[in-house]
Amino acid sequence: MVNSALGDDVFGEDPTVNMLESKVATLLGKQAALYVPSGTMSNLLAVMVHCKKRGAEAIVGNMSHIYKYEQGGAAHIAGVLLATIQNKPDGTFDLKELEKKFRGEDIHEPVTSLVAIENTHNSCGGKVLPVQWIDEVAAICNKHSVPLHMDGARLMNASVALKESPAKLVQGCDSISICFSKGLSAPVGSCLVGSYHFIEQARRLRKMLGGGMRQAGVIAAAAVVALDEVLPKLVFDHKRAQILAKTIQGLLLKTFTVDVEGVHTNIVMVQISDRSSLLSEQLVQRLEQVSLTETQGDCKTANDEGVIVKAVSFSDKMMRLCLHADITDEELWMAIMKITFVFKELDEACPVQ
Ligand SMILES: Cc1ncc(COP(=O)(O)O)c(C=O)c1O
Repeated sequence: MVNSALGDDVFGEDPTVNMLESKVATLLGKQAALYVPSGTMSNLLAVMVHCKKRGAEAIVGNMSHIYKYEQGGAAHIAGVLLATIQNKPDGTFDLKELEKKFRGEDIHEPVTSLVAIENTHNSCGGKVLPVQWIDEVAAICNKHSVPLHMDGARLMNASVALKESPAKLVQGCDSISICFSKGLSAPVGSCLVGSYHFIEQARRLRKMLGGGMRQAGVIAAAAVVALDEVLPKLVFDHKRAQILAKTIQGLLLKTFTVDVEGVHTNIVMVQISDRSSLLSEQLVQRLEQVSLTETQGDCKTANDEGVIVKAVSFSDKMMRLCLHADITDEELWMAIMKITFVFKELDEACPVQ
């Protein structure tokens, strides 16, 4: 970041941003890429470029990030209606149902102008979409002349898990958003990827949204490092996630379960039994507070050493744990000591009825 060559990216003159964009376009086998501040902006730009007319409709999974966590930007800013299709637990959805969802022939209906899928699927626990399924979705979209966007915030995790090139995973997609700030562990930034024409339009709209950054090479440099140095190590996050999942499941507690087979990448979802009064918010709080000393039988509550376990509550009964490049084996073991201690404690305190 310190040594990156800089210029004004709004004029397309930042060499580091330009290098990142062409690197990403090549990696994904597409013509062009656009560096943007966030995954949310990247997805919104895709919706805005693909859905040319206000009142158009985009089909997205009911568990998708675009639908659940992006402030309804598609409706708010683009004037696009999000129609949801039910996600299966593996992040896919039913293709027959998709076929029935396309609308626009009837004068009463909005015109379906986009389909979006998510890979890996965050709310479904970092699940990797099967390549064949993606290609089938693409074929259906093609038949209806509707573009396909992939929210690939964690596409590189999917590529590593499948041992397939990212280009193969997105071969049927017209646009893709990838994030450097998730498993790739850069501080900030995403890329929107697609054809020259698509990216040209997105570049204008990025300016309108206030996402045109000047000497952005400072942060783009971190994204280059993420691709060069963190990407080859994602496999270790996946291995650590397996260890974590198996350890939790191996505790054989009635209150907590992990679907070990369902851990495809760096995300571990912990299910709390419906028959326990415990809520995942309480679990998250306790994990954040517990000290290592306490786990050794001492009564201190301050976080005195080691790691802090910061998890996310996804619903009352579901908590997400996530591995990334900054977590070493040693830190994982310290986290496991805390997790084991807290899980046993709460399993006793809030027994399954
Ligand atoms: C699948 C997915 N898409 C998009 C985003 C949005 O990324 P950002 O937080 O950079 O806006 C996230 C963020 O967690 C995500 O998980």
